[in-house]
Amino acid sequence: MGRYDRERNFLKSNFDSFKNIKTDKMKGIPQPEGVKPYDLNSIIIPLPNVHKDVLKKENIYECISSRRSTRFYSEEEISLEELSYLLWATQGITGTNNAGLTLRTVPCSGATHSFETYLFVMNVAGIEKGIYRYLPVEHSLLLMFELKDIDKKVDAITLEQPFVPNFAKKAAVTFAWSTTPYRSEWKYDITGHKKILIDIGHVCQNLYLSGESVEIGVCAIGIYDQAAIDNLLQLDGDDEFIIYLAAAGKKRS
Ligand SMILES: Cc1cc2nc3c(=O)[nH]c(=O)nc-3n(C[C@H](O)[C@H](O)[C@H](O)COP(=O)(O)O)c2cc1C
Repeated sequence: MGRYDRERNFLKSNFDSFKNIKTDKMKGIPQPEGVKPYDLNSIIIPLPNVHKDVLKKENIYECISSRRSTRFYSEEEISLEELSYLLWATQGITGTNNAGLTLRTVPCSGATHSFETYLFVMNVAGIEKGIYRYLPVEHSLLLMFELKDIDKKVDAITLEQPFVPNFAKKAAVTFAWSTTPYRSEWKYDITGHKKILIDIGHVCQNLYLSGESVEIGVCAIGIYDQAAIDNLLQLDGDDEFIIYLAAAGKKRS
């Protein structure tokens, strides 16, 4: 098999092999939790209710046509209302299905929603610089730890950027999405991994479009130091690890 072939096969549908697999779900193994638990003694910051008053551009056509990856940000902070809206637009819960799984603002194969959202907060009104986790059920932020030199950490994690060097450290907030693959594997076994990657694309696209609607520029980031970010976020790198990042901040005019 050539060097590319194995990776190309990963991109294809492998439902043929799925027919012969007894998944953990079929074996009657209990479904893993759909959201990561947290210590109830943590510092929790409730987010403002999401309301469309936050919008600056309501027209979806305009949001889609003007969306561009933005790597230059102003020094203006983003408001907690805006951050609340971006988090809702990317992972907010809007219902439940018959199996009791969460339905969110983004589609997801089998509603398995294998993601957690971590935030590198650098310039958000009313909250300290630091690392936070989004709690979608509570629509709140959990403060993991404050970090004064967070911009340096973001800069190191985002490595040598090919288009605009060091742009991520100048964002107001950088999103980092982890996956807990077993949430998908439990149901889809080895066909789950391709789905996880497709699912996260929907999440980031919603960040781009919701950002556009409040004049916040977004840039997806696929170039990052896996070990450094997993270590910083205290993820084991196996059962949970980061798969995608995106920087966001007010556009520089
Ligand atoms: C999966 C993915 C990974 C990306 N990674 C980076 C990155 O690490 N650094 C960067 O500056 N842009 C990154 N981008 C942004 C692309 O360079 C950008 O989408 C592309 O040049 C097209 O420009 P547009 O988004 O303005 O239409 C990424 C985009 C995607 C979808």
